[in-house]
Amino acid sequence: MKIAVYGLGYVGSTTMACLAEMGHEMVGTDPNPGKVELINAGKSPMVEPGLPEMLHKHRATGRIRATTDGREAFKDVDACLLCVGTPPAADGFVDQRVLEKVVLEIADLRLESGRTCPMLVRSTALPVVHQDILAKLEERLAGRQSPAYVVHPEFLREGNAIEDFFHPSKIVFGCSGSCGRQFCESLYPGIEAPVVFTDPLTAAVAKYADNCFHAVKVTFANEIGALCKSMGVDSRPVMDVFCLDTKLNISPVYFKPGFAYGGSCLGKDLAAMNTYGRRAGVKVPMLAHVEESNLAQIRAVAERIMATGTKSVGLFGLAFKERTDDLRDSPLVILGSLLDKAGVQIRIYDPAIYAVAYSGSHMAYALEHLPDLRRMISDNAPKVIGESDTIVISRSFPGLAWRDLPWRAGHSIMDLNGRLDLAGVDVPVTGLYW
Ligand SMILES: NC(=O)c1ccc[n+]([C@@H]2O[C@H](COP(=O)([O-])OP(=O)(O)OC[C@H]3O[C@@H](n4cnc5c(N)ncnc54)[C@H](O)[C@@H]3O)[C@@H](O)[C@H]2O)c1
Repeated sequence: MKIAVYGLGYVGSTTMACLAEMGHEMVGTDPNPGKVELINAGKSPMVEPGLPEMLHKHRATGRIRATTDGREAFKDVDACLLCVGTPPAADGFVDQRVLEKVVLEIADLRLESGRTCPMLVRSTALPVVHQDILAKLEERLAGRQSPAYVVHPEFLREGNAIEDFFHPSKIVFGCSGSCGRQFCESLYPGIEAPVVFTDPLTAAVAKYADNCFHAVKVTFANEIGALCKSMGVDSRPVMDVFCLDTKLNISPVYFKPGFAYGGSCLGKDLAAMNTYGRRAGVKVPMLAHVEESNLAQIRAVAERIMATGTKSVGLFGLAFKERTDDLRDSPLVILGSLLDKAGVQIRIYDPAIYAVAYSGSHMAYALEHLPDLRRMISDNAPKVIGESDTIVISRSFPGLAWRDLPWRAGHSIMDLNGRLDLAGVDVPVTGLYW
């Protein structure tokens, strides 16, 4: 296919060279004449292993050329890849000006030529930026063409970009409609990777989730490293052991948005490390704020529930997770306590807790926060539903079918879990983060 690349920086020039290697005919455009001249001379405008060789090779095959003229680049291409910069504005937000300008210029060229040439945006931008640009694009097109606007995030690492291009961990297309999908499907012939077609906003955030996580990972390793150093421990083997665990550590486990963490170990061990750090004068700001962030999650849920004006809440689940009666540090106990203190009537359904309410070894924590727990708790789900207006569900319960419970008008559900089977339950459901 014939493809135009707008912006010949790290992303644009690598993408252009790699797509030429795959057999596409590429034209790059950038207002910087220095970059254009270098590419047309078969040289790389930036340092990236393998890039000079590939640009040189495909200048010779004729599959690459560059121009400072965006209009000329657009001539008879099948699609445009937008790789322009989205630098931080003064307040850290995304400066969308160049991206917006290029999108609207391409829109004008599309209207002039009558070709609905898809725009694939490789530049990184937040959903609100894409929404704003998409609205302006639609206004400019005024119904004469479909937007054919695809958010196609770039996951390559500088320094490894070419290897990553040919062996990506995923390929994501966020399409604003069906227009452009066919082009996307033929863009990377022969590349083996999971291909995700989704909406533009999901695709946009997926890129930010990755980069936030990479930043968190580096910071985490360095904070553990700093604590190790102070304890006289070599952090390298520690993190080697950490990384061996692909069941719990380097895995999808604990990556589902849901309610706060709790239980007897996470908070306790985090506190021990933080207290050690404070005493030893080791600064670990990220670890030091994890508990605060976790508490903020619980408070935010309590505030959301109270903001509905509800007078009675039925908590389904009190233990910190499924298949246990352990109440230590359970975030649901804290949630119940916050609501109780605010004067909301609390009923609780958790058969495992009900069974041990008078004998359980870990009741002290729960009773400290919910002194009336034994009056609130029940093993009768219909009764709890009957006595509550708002039902807060943190997990599923074996043998309990939600649709069979005595729902009535005025009931509402807050779902803290996100994977409950609520089919057939005819009351309003609010998801925590979905
Ligand atoms: N660098 C990376 O590793 C990386 C990885 C993933 C995503 N991204 C994202 O990709 C985008 C580009 O990043 P980059 O590092 O290649 O940026 P860059 O600054 O190296 O390149 C951007 C290029 O766009 C050009 N440009 C400016 N106005 C233009 C216009 N009107 N028409 C055409 N070109 C124009 C600039 O001259 C520049 O050469 C950014 O949104 C960035 O966040 C970068």
